[in-house]
Amino acid sequence: MNVALELLAERRYADFARRCMGLIYDQRVALGLRRDLEIPLIAPKAKIPIRIRAFEESDLPVLLDENQPGLARKEMVEIRTRRAHHEAAIPTCYVAVDETTGSPCYFQWLMGPSQNAKIQSFFPAQWFPVLQENEALLENAYTPVAYRGNGIMSAAMALIAERAVDLGCRYVITFVERDNVPSLRGCRKSGFSPYLVRTENRFLLNLVKRRRFEEFREG
Ligand SMILES: CC(C)(COP(=O)(O)OP(=O)(O)OC[C@H]1O[C@@H](n2cnc3c(N)ncnc32)[C@H](O)[C@@H]1OP(=O)(O)O)[C@@H](O)C(=O)NCCC(=O)NCCS
Repeated sequence: MNVALELLAERRYADFARRCMGLIYDQRVALGLRRDLEIPLIAPKAKIPIRIRAFEESDLPVLLDENQPGLARKEMVEIRTRRAHHEAAIPTCYVAVDETTGSPCYFQWLMGPSQNAKIQSFFPAQWFPVLQENEALLENAYTPVAYRGNGIMSAAMALIAERAVDLGCRYVITFVERDNVPSLRGCRKSGFSPYLVRTENRFLLNLVKRRRFEEFREG
């Protein structure tokens, strides 16, 4: 609703009308993608050298500050969502570090089946399937704007997914909105292929939300 009012104030009437329609009925579709760690993959290389490590408290002001000057509204929302994930303390958040400067340049959570209870209570109902014993979930990837377009997502995601072996998992799954082209491309390069479709129907100011999973079918 706040966004609709902002659009109205900015006299963006067509966007305002679309937003209002979306508040009455909207459908969001995400693809569930999976990687089988037993299938060998040569991890793609980013344009800059990176290494992976666990998130450290010193990363907080660099990666999770939604009030950085000049940040677009969409990015603020992305960072706010990830800050909430950080506060929910569901391990483990991994960070890719730019080896030329030592700065964190990407982060993402890898969660194993021992976190099922926390995952199901933190995320909306039926947002993710309950993880099987041999399945881990990779979520909330984020590359700070200044680092985008360097192929960091695919390189980092390929390496982070492999940490699932330490959790006793063979499969790693992730979910991406079907219109998030950069993320879908990054997932494909890091060895993930679609296997599930999550459809969310939203009605009446998003007060009613219905979600379902279906098997992914080519085409
Ligand atoms: C998705 C995201 C992590 C990608 O980060 P990145 O490190 O810049 O990724 P890459 O540089 O590897 O780019 C990914 C691919 O998308 C392509 N791409 C980038 N912007 C694009 C756009 N607007 N349209 C189409 N393709 C685009 C890139 O060319 C690249 O494809 P290629 O490797 O085949 O050339 C980053 O955009 C981001 O943080 N977005 C906001 C949060 C988000 O959407 N997270 C994912 C949630 S599932």
